[in-house]
Amino acid sequence: MSLLVTGGTGYIGSHTVVELIEKGHEVVIVDNLSNSSTRVLSRIEALTGVFPTFIQADICDAKAMSDVFSQHDIEAVIHFAGLKAVGESNEIPLSYYQNNVSGSITLFEIMAKFNVKKLVFSSSATVYGENNISPLDESMATSATNPYGQTKLMIENILMDLAKSDTKWSIACLRYFNPIGAHASGTMGENPNGIPNNLLPYVAQVAVGRLAQLNVFGDDYDTPDGTGVRDYIHVVDLALGHIKAVEALNDLQGCQPINLGTGNGTSVLEIVKSFKAISGKDIPYAIVPRRVGDIATVFANADKALTLLNWKAVRDLNTMIEDTWRWQSQNPNGFE
Ligand code: NAD
Ligand code: UFG
Repeated sequence: MSLLVTGGTGYIGSHTVVELIEKGHEVVIVDNLSNSSTRVLSRIEALTGVFPTFIQADICDAKAMSDVFSQHDIEAVIHFAGLKAVGESNEIPLSYYQNNVSGSITLFEIMAKFNVKKLVFSSSATVYGENNISPLDESMATSATNPYGQTKLMIENILMDLAKSDTKWSIACLRYFNPIGAHASGTMGENPNGIPNNLLPYVAQVAVGRLAQLNVFGDDYDTPDGTGVRDYIHVVDLALGHIKAVEALNDLQGCQPINLGTGNGTSVLEIVKSFKAISGKDIPYAIVPRRVGDIATVFANADKALTLLNWKAVRDLNTMIEDTWRWQSQNPNGFE
């Protein structure tokens, strides 16, 4: 299949591009490089033997996106492009609505114009809000507690309406739980700008000596050890979920929300303990107050993905941490 991958030089996008090329799909990447670098392209080439077609463009730029569709024969789109930092979204909400929501509408309008109506969209478990009890399943009510989450929910709702308005659309809204890990080669991984917001890149940078200590946000949650529990999923399993989704689009009805998670929960202190054992490095940490907006426990019911996509996550937590450590220790400054 010939695919447009927006946000394809980013963390999840780049891992998905590797798996797509390895399965024989043709890929055109569009990315504005606001949170990634073209350095990943040669890493993709080294792994797959193919230097992917790359266009530096913004999904909000209707003319540039129209040119992409007129110059390339696109059958389906995997749409990763977006801003993703929850804290930042509280500070600059308009940028988040503009980039994520307006940008997505522009993309969908151009897809419609070129009669490309197959789409896989990067949604998030954040759309389950704070009132549902895990395991979270796709029938539960959705809500959002910050502008980032609102953008994911708005785009999901737009896609639901779009699929109702025209039955030719076939859409998978993949709700990711907590993607971590890196390519097993150690040549590609997460490369956050500045101080990481998320647990795993933060722990990895403590282990490699770039950061002094981890702050554990609260140890008084109602969880076995008091720290937050999440459903960590290997980025390569996630990437393979996208391939199953894109290949299933012909058979999917309308717009389907689908969880991509493992169904298992792991606490912050369990992550610290495993990372320490695998890396052989000390991970100094301090318990600090809870982070505003965090909830105790989030993990998936992953049955729908198995039923509809014949997909389930197979890489365990040790593999996730081993691969994160290989990437971080071999590339202490990311792609630089
Ligand atoms: P990332 O920042 O590494 O990748 C996103 C890419 O999109 C970047 O390369 C960035 O430069 C690009 N981009 C942003 N705005 C753009 C625009 N207007 N036009 C063109 N390119 C643009 O993030 P990621 O972790 O790979 O996440 C990919 C998607 O998955 C995002 O939509 C994110 O919201 C979603 N998601 C991520 C997580 C996570 O924890 N990583 C969890 C749930 C959902
Ligand atoms: N945590 C720490 N210290 C840190 C960072 C995180 O203790 O420095 C804890 C958090 O309190 C939480 C766990 O580690 O208990 C995981 O936190 P992350 O920031 O890695 O992930 P979140 O579950 O908070 O957020 C992720 C994505 C969001 C998405 C959300 C939805 O980053 O984009 O999942 O489930 F919205």
